[in-house]
Parts: sequence; structure tokens; C-alpha cells
Amino acid sequence: MKAVILAGGRGTRLYPTTFVVNKHLLPIYNKPMIYYPVSVALLCRIREIIIVTNPEDVEIYKKLFLFTEEIGVDIKYAVQETPGGLAHALLTAEEFARGAPICLILGDNIFFGHGLPDILMEARRSVEKEGGAYIFVYYVNDPERYGIAEFDSTGKVISLEEKPKKAKSNFAVTGLYFYDQTVFEKARRIEPSSRGELEITSVNQEYLKEGKLKAKLLGRGFAWFDAGTHESFLSAGEFVYTIEKKTGLMIGCLEEIAFNNGWISRQKLLTLANRLKNTDYGEYLSKIAKSKD
Ligand code: DAU
Repeated sequence: MKAVILAGGRGTRLYPTTFVVNKHLLPIYNKPMIYYPVSVALLCRIREIIIVTNPEDVEIYKKLFLFTEEIGVDIKYAVQETPGGLAHALLTAEEFARGAPICLILGDNIFFGHGLPDILMEARRSVEKEGGAYIFVYYVNDPERYGIAEFDSTGKVISLEEKPKKAKSNFAVTGLYFYDQTVFEKARRIEPSSRGELEITSVNQEYLKEGKLKAKLLGRGFAWFDAGTHESFLSAGEFVYTIEKKTGLMIGCLEEIAFNNGWISRQKLLTLANRLKNTDYGEYLSKIAKSKD
């Protein structure tokens, strides 16, 4: 499986901050926002990733992620010429996927919770074995902001709607999707929505029509943020700060996950830590390298 991470768009909801800075480079507490979706791919043990972004931002991402080669992760880049929607952005990654199933992650989404790696691996295995699509829903009190899933009494999805004015449920579809290789053909087939975008919800509706959509609830033990507004951006930063301060463990530390996955040695982790000597991040890496057997 390969991962596609979307980091394009205009970020208008964060204006004026995002006039000249790509949203996903802004810090969520102590690291760039993009680290969090990349960490989700690594937790799924995916080492081949493509980041889709705007033409003017590709070089900066290449620079930011130069080190990922050293942690056993191969990141490629695709350009989305204009922000035509999530399914439009996904289509730029078709060549990269080469027929493999994919994990699509929105660049402004942050996930946290006990057992998350197991849940991610279950979704990956399901799509690799049985095909179809696998999505995650989360109970929210502001459903008009999201894609919304409606369920029947047996827990089966019966409808999906993008940002409904009157939502049929409070279950938001989060920005993490697992798809079989038919996703690209579906993304090509759908029509632009009333706001002129190729919506990922329309792609999910295609899977629903075929009876090939699985949805898993991320319950109250999980935290999920779409950090695309000033308020949610601040809440996400405060959340990461609170958890990290309390536990002394980082959320979204790519080098640590690579080490735990067995992709790099303790020595390599120490080398990476030394490069960031006298920074909190470097000290954290060094602590991890020294604390585990
Ligand atoms: O966060 C979950 C929600 O994300 C879902 O519930 C919705 O169904 C889904 O449409 C999406 O809604 P948003 O309004 O939050 O999408 P947004 O425009 O913020 O785009 C999500 C990410 O994708 C963002 O990090 C920027 C990137 N993006 C967006 C567009 C429109 C692109 O890379 N290219 C694009 O053309």
C-alpha cells in the first residue's frame, strides 16, 4: 500500500496567515502540521508516500523532508495546478499508485488515541484483502463543516453528504481513507459539486452504491482535529501541547515511529538526534534512543 497526502488548496479559512505560507507548514505546537498526517502513514507501515501540493510549494516540502530518506521513507511530490477539490488532487497521484491500493490522508487532519496503529492496520488489511473503501467517522457537534455519514439501525452506512445544511447525523467522515485501485477510475467519473470541486464524498458515494464501503467509528477515546480553521488550529496545538507535556511523549514524531517500526537502528536515531543537538526535538530523539532496549 502507498499513501497520498494532500497539502494543496488555498487555506482561505486561515487567511491572512496563509496568504503566503502553505497551511500544512504552520506549526501545530512544536512541529509542522504535515508531520501529523505523515506520521499516520508511518503508523500504517507505509514507506512510499506522495505529497500533493501547489506548484509554488513543492520545493519547500522537498527541503523539509530531505531527512526522510534516512529513516527509510520515500517521499515523492505531485503538483496540483489549481485547487479543484480533494478527488482532483488525488488524481495527480494516479501514476505514483501504479495500481496499488492507497491510503489517502488530508494534510490538515490530526489523529490521536490508544490503539490507533492497530485500527489503521486493520483498515489496511481489509482493503488489501477484500478491496473496496474503508473510512472513519467521528461524532461532532458541528456537522455542517464536514462530510457526514448516515447509518441504519444495523450500523450500515446508508447515505453520505458533503457539508449538509441540515445534517442527517453527527458522524463526520474524517480525512483518512483507504481505497482499492478502482478509486482513480471513480474519481475520473464523478461530476464537480455545486461549489465546482471534485469532492471526495462523491468518490465515497460511488463505493457506497457498489456496496463496498466500510465505516469504522473512532469512539470517545480518540481525538480528531481538522485544523483548517483558526479555532480548530488553536485547539489542535493546545491538545498536542497538553498530551506531550503530561506524558513526555511526542505525537507525530517521524524518527521515533521509524525506529519503533524497525526501519532505523538506535545508532541512526542517535545520529539524527545529534544533528538537532540543543533543540527540544533533538533531545527527545536522544531520550528515545537511550531509553529503549
Ligand atoms: O477534515 C475532514 C473533511 O475534509 C471531510 O469531512 C470532508 O468530507 C472533506 O471534503 C474535507 O473537507 P474540508 O472542507 O475540510 O476540506 P479542505 O478544503 O480543508 O481540504 C482538505 C485538505 O486537502 C487540506 O489540507 C487542503 C487539501 N486540498 C484541498 C483542496 C480543495 C488540496 O490538496 N487540494 C484541493 O484542491
